[in-house]
Amino acid sequence: MIEIKNLQKHFGDKQILRGVNLNIKEGEVTTIIGGSGTGKSTLIKCIIRLLEPDGGNIIVNGYDITHIKSQMALANLRRKFGYLFQEGALFDSLTVGENVVFGLKYLTDIPKADYAKIAKEKLALVGLKDIEHLKPSELSGGMKKRVSLARVLATNPKVILYDEPTSGLDPIMSQIINELVLDLKHKLGVTSIVITHDMKSAFEISDTLVMLYNGIVELAAPAEKFKKTKNPYAKQFIDGSSKGPIQMQIRN
Ligand SMILES: Nc1ncnc2c1ncn2[C@@H]1O[C@H](COP(=O)(O)OP(=O)(O)OP(=O)(O)O)[C@@H](O)[C@H]1O
Ligand SMILES: [Mg+2]
Repeated sequence: MIEIKNLQKHFGDKQILRGVNLNIKEGEVTTIIGGSGTGKSTLIKCIIRLLEPDGGNIIVNGYDITHIKSQMALANLRRKFGYLFQEGALFDSLTVGENVVFGLKYLTDIPKADYAKIAKEKLALVGLKDIEHLKPSELSGGMKKRVSLARVLATNPKVILYDEPTSGLDPIMSQIINELVLDLKHKLGVTSIVITHDMKSAFEISDTLVMLYNGIVELAAPAEKFKKTKNPYAKQFIDGSSKGPIQMQIRN
């Protein structure tokens, strides 16, 4: 469904993606892991063209979206996708309810009369109730994250890109979100790309795991195979060991 071929992206003189190759299958959960700063968020921002790649191609349903420029084509692309920002990206000046339904006006033709019901429904899916009138500043970090997820779900996207959906959530809430990802897959056939540092979640929800290292895909494999890998980079990451080929990088 999504083919990523030799994808490259640099910022200034730093080459972040050096030729990423990856196939995302429809209806599956693909999880991307890798050290902080390896380019995971950069990669998924390229997929919905929040960033334009420098080289390579991204093909979505047979259509090359790598360099599309027209606002209409970009809007069509984004209509298919839901994107959970790593930072949540709620609008501080809007209430929770307004945040959740924000995309409906632009991305769907759902009548406005249904917005309140949809806000309630999607908030319930992420374990929140009766908070529509609050402002984001009145919420805890974990609640903000879940409101952001409710906003993603509001437009019923067929593909969801989750940038660290469970970071900052307690273990029970993390589990509820994991189950939600699986539920969307099983009941609605949603295709998911999930970035996470939580290896337990990763093995629980993924069909395929992908490890990014040094700007390329170091290993992509079905979850069961990935778990047993002998690849020293992936193994060190799974074990969470400070000893191995991956060393701490200190930036200047
Ligand atoms: N818009 C930008 N301008 C300049 N540099 C950027 C930009 N976005 C990301 N970078 C740099 O690209 C590198 C990869 O960033 P990215 O956010 O993709 O990492 P990540 O793998 O998502 O990390 P984390 O796990 O910490 O979220 C980092 O060194 C970051 O400083
Ligand atoms: Mg990131």
